[in-house]
Order: sequence, then C-alpha cells, then structure tokens
Amino acid sequence: MDGNNERKEKVLGVIGLGYVGLPLAMEFVRAGYKTIGFDIDVKKIDKLSRGEIYLKHIQEDRVKDLFNSGLFSATTDFLQLNKVDLVSICVPTPLDKYRQPDLSFVENSARAVAENLKQGAIVVLESTVYPGTTREILLPIFEDLGNELDMNFYLAFSPEREDPGNKKFNTRNIPKVVGGLSEQSGRKVVEIYKNVFDEIVEVPSAEVAEATKILENTYRSVNIALVNELKVIFDKMGINVWDVIEAAKTKPFGFKPFYPGPGLGGHCIPIDPFYLSWKARKFGINTRFIELAGEINTMMPEYVVMKTISVLNKNKKSLKGSKVLIIGVAYKKDIDDSRESPGIKIIELLEEGGAEVSYYDPYIPEIYNMRQTDLVMSSVKLSDELLKEQDAVIIVTAHSNIDYKNVVDNSSVIVDTRNALSNIKSDKIFKA
Ligand SMILES: NC(=O)c1ccc[n+]([C@@H]2O[C@H](COP(=O)([O-])OP(=O)(O)OC[C@H]3O[C@@H](n4cnc5c(N)ncnc54)[C@H](O)[C@@H]3O)[C@@H](O)[C@H]2O)c1
Repeated sequence: MDGNNERKEKVLGVIGLGYVGLPLAMEFVRAGYKTIGFDIDVKKIDKLSRGEIYLKHIQEDRVKDLFNSGLFSATTDFLQLNKVDLVSICVPTPLDKYRQPDLSFVENSARAVAENLKQGAIVVLESTVYPGTTREILLPIFEDLGNELDMNFYLAFSPEREDPGNKKFNTRNIPKVVGGLSEQSGRKVVEIYKNVFDEIVEVPSAEVAEATKILENTYRSVNIALVNELKVIFDKMGINVWDVIEAAKTKPFGFKPFYPGPGLGGHCIPIDPFYLSWKARKFGINTRFIELAGEINTMMPEYVVMKTISVLNKNKKSLKGSKVLIIGVAYKKDIDDSRESPGIKIIELLEEGGAEVSYYDPYIPEIYNMRQTDLVMSSVKLSDELLKEQDAVIIVTAHSNIDYKNVVDNSSVIVDTRNALSNIKSDKIFKA
C-alpha cells in the first residue's frame, strides 16, 4: 500500500487536459498526489494558471478543491516531465481525412515523455486506440532512445471511460481497467491507481485493455444503430419506438435499453469503432457490424431533415425559404461539447436545402473552427417571439434547462428527435 507520506513524494502527470485529462488530474489531486498537467494549448494553461477551468459540466466545489489543494500546476513546458513518476496520456485520437487512425497526438506525447523520462517512470496511455498500439507504436518510441521496459520505465494501457455530464458515474467510481505491456508494468500502475480509483480491473495485457474500450464503444454504436433502424420502420407503422423501448426495458434480464436519436456525436462512438476496422483490414477481415452501424447512424441527420421537409409540406411550405430553429447542437444533453455533433450536419443539410437556419444552445454560444465543418454561427436568444417566427423547430439535443412546454406553446411545428416532449400532448409535435 502506498502510504500517505510516500504518496506526497510522488509526482503524477497528465498530458492533454481536455474532457478526459482534466477530470483525471483532479482525481490525482484529490487522492493527495502532486500533479502536473501538460498541454500544448496555451489558452487552456493560461486559464488553469488563473484558477479557472473551461469545462462547464464540472461542479464548482471540485474546481475549488483542485486549486485550493496547492498540489496542482499546469504547464506547456514538457521538460517538467522529468519530475514525473507516473504520466497518463489523454490526447485526441481522431480519424484523418481518409478515415484512418491519426495517432500523431499520441506519438508526439510519447516522444515528449521519452525525451524527458525520469528513471523508473510509469507511462499509461489512456486515449482510445486500436489493439496493439501501446506495444507497436509507443514501446519503440521509448526503446529507440535506449530505454528498456521494466528496467528503467514501465508502460501500460488503461482506457478512459469518462462520461462527461453523467451525474452518477465519474472518473473515480467508474471501474478502471488496466493492462500492462508486462505483468510488472501493469502492477506498477495498479499500485498508484488503487489510491485514485474506487475499483481497479486488472486484465492480462495492454491489448486486452485496448480491445475492451473498443468493444464498449462498438457495442453502443451497433445498438444505437439497431434502435435507429427500428425507429424508421416503426414510424412507418405508426408505432412510437420510445414507447416500445420503455415497455421492453421492463424485462428484468436479456435486454438493455438504447435510444434512437438524430445521429451519433462526440469524440468516441462515431470514431473509435473505425480504429478497429482499420486494424482488422490489416488481418484481411471486414468489420461488417461496424460498417453497417456506421452507415445507419450516419443517415440519421438526413432522416431528420426529410422528416422536417414532410412536416413543412403538411403546412403547405417548402424547406427553401423556411425559418428553422435548431434547439441543441451539443452532441448530448447538458454538456458543452459539439464535436462530431449531428446538429452541425442537420444545420448544413437544411442550409443546402435553402432554409434560413438559426440555433439555440445554452452550452454552445458559438460554432467555429470545428474539424468537420467550416460553419460559423452564434446561438440565438430563445424567446417567445423567436419561436413564433419559425416555420419549424427541431429538438436535436434535449438539454434539461429548456422550458419545453413553452417551446411547444409558441411554435407552429416541432420535430422532436429525442423524445424530449414525451410528457406534452400536442398535434404540433412530430417524432423523428
Ligand atoms: N470525451 C470523452 O467523453 C472521452 C471518453 C472516453 C475516452 N475518450 C478518449 O480520450 C482521448 C482524449 O479525448 P478528449 O475528449 O479528452 O479530447 P480533448 O480534445 O478534450 O482533449 C485533448 C487535449 O489534448 C491536448 N493535446 C493535443 N496534443 C497534445 C500534445 N502533443 N501534448 C499535450 N497535449 C496535447 C489538446 O490541446 C487538448 O487539450 C481520446 O482518445 C478520446 O477518444 C474521450
């Protein structure tokens, strides 16, 4: 057991202070470790150095605890990695324009650690990657500089399972899967992580840990695709898919509810399964479930727009020239992340069709500088007048702090992609 005194002597590091890395650094501090956060984004480091944070979903008392602890510092100076006993790498793992894994962020971080390695340091990759990345990509970066695994450094993979905005599960109480490149490397991570997380799940290898994360996200993608397909079929039959899911989930075994929506968003579910597809192709295997789920989920923004067109048509209006308000462009409710959000795609499709589009999102004041779009827009202010001016309103993200009754009262038609209006009866509401 790592006693309190020993804990105070150890310095932990986190590379990449985003949605995953910053909450992780907060947990390191809460567990009593001196913690250094590293990022290349000067704006983030400046904010943290002023005692401010940029993730809106993190409760204020947690922010206070972080800065009052005196244990946390943030820097762009990677030379300070030479003070760090354990470093967790939490940088982005996107797809490139050919939909292939872009591991450049992970490689750059690993290089920075290898070049400034403290003897005996433990390195944990937390970014989502395909099975084999830690051994095939990271290990050689360290070995090329003369380091030897389990001799002067240790290397493991531990998937981040963060769910921003989840009120019940947070970084600490989500069981932490750890798989070392060797038994000794895995054990080294567990010795420290057991002081930080409520439960550790040790798995036989880094590859098992990498594949675990991919399984979890593929499972979600495939099941969401299934209910999205059923939504379209049941709609044609006049059956509300949400009613069906509510009933099906009363079965106490063998069924887990997944919910349809306007398409996948965020940094994980739309991307991670394709890391596996890419790797599987190297073995001559096609990942048919993943491709099919991707195809169905990617179609959903178009389905929402087609639904909107048919609803406008009922009111003798065309999409061209119609005013359409999107409510919510974050990829899920109550968070400030619009990466890969289907809301962006829906706005683009509506604009292509000649609609006059605006959006309201209390968490996303502006859309700009996004990977998947050149779109630049600002959130409008939600008012009764604004709603009355619209030819259609589309609920894309069901944030909790919106008065939906008022939206229905003041709108002519509402297309609801999230079942946000399930408690309101009105013939102005259309599900999509
Ligand atoms: N967001 C989630 O809910 C979530 C959940 C589980 C796993 N993940 C995975 O965790 C990883 C990180 O995701 P995120 O959402 O936190 O991303 P993010 O974009 O919010 O944060 C990444 C941070 O890394 C920084 N960065 C980039 N290159 C760097 C470098 N070379 N050195 C230091 N910092 C660098 C960026 O400036 C940014 O602040 C990804 O692999 C993602 O798939 C994300």
